[in-house]
Amino acid sequence: MTRSETNTWRAVLPLTLVAGALVACAAALAHAELADAARAAQRWPGTTLADLERGREVYVARCSHCHVPRLPEAYPAAAWPALVAKMSNQAKLAPEDEQEITRFLVTTSARLRHEPMPDVPR
Ligand code: HEC
Repeated sequence: MTRSETNTWRAVLPLTLVAGALVACAAALAHAELADAARAAQRWPGTTLADLERGREVYVARCSHCHVPRLPEAYPAAAWPALVAKMSNQAKLAPEDEQEITRFLVTTSARLRHEPMPDVPR
């Protein structure tokens, strides 16, 4: 390898590692499933799978600036509404964004932790 090829690798390798880590993080965040939508709709009538997946997208878009997005299963389902409300100012969320994020986190947390759907505000 020439000197400039070696330098190119020195420059590219850390970027590759960072990109790989970001992909790994995104992959670890669960997607909502059809059964989640059914359970969410008992709590929030009319909730669809598309609503929950939009909540996931908004969550990644708005809650990843300051720290990696916490996994839904990291907290009990019942704890998420207050956590999102607390972070809502930080992320400058519109009320509908806050609601979509909360539905996604509560519902996937309940599934992954094998908890019943909590009695959270509607
Ligand atoms: C402007 C920066 C910023 C943004 C945006 C942000 N956070 Fe945070 N978050 C923090 C800081 C700083 C902490 C640690 C200090 C604390 O707990 O207040 C934290 C902590 C947390 C915790 C752990 C809190 C606890 O009590 O254990 C959770 C969960 C969390 N954030 C979720 C979110 C969610 C959900 C969003 C999007 C709605 C979000 N964060 C957006 C800065 C941010």
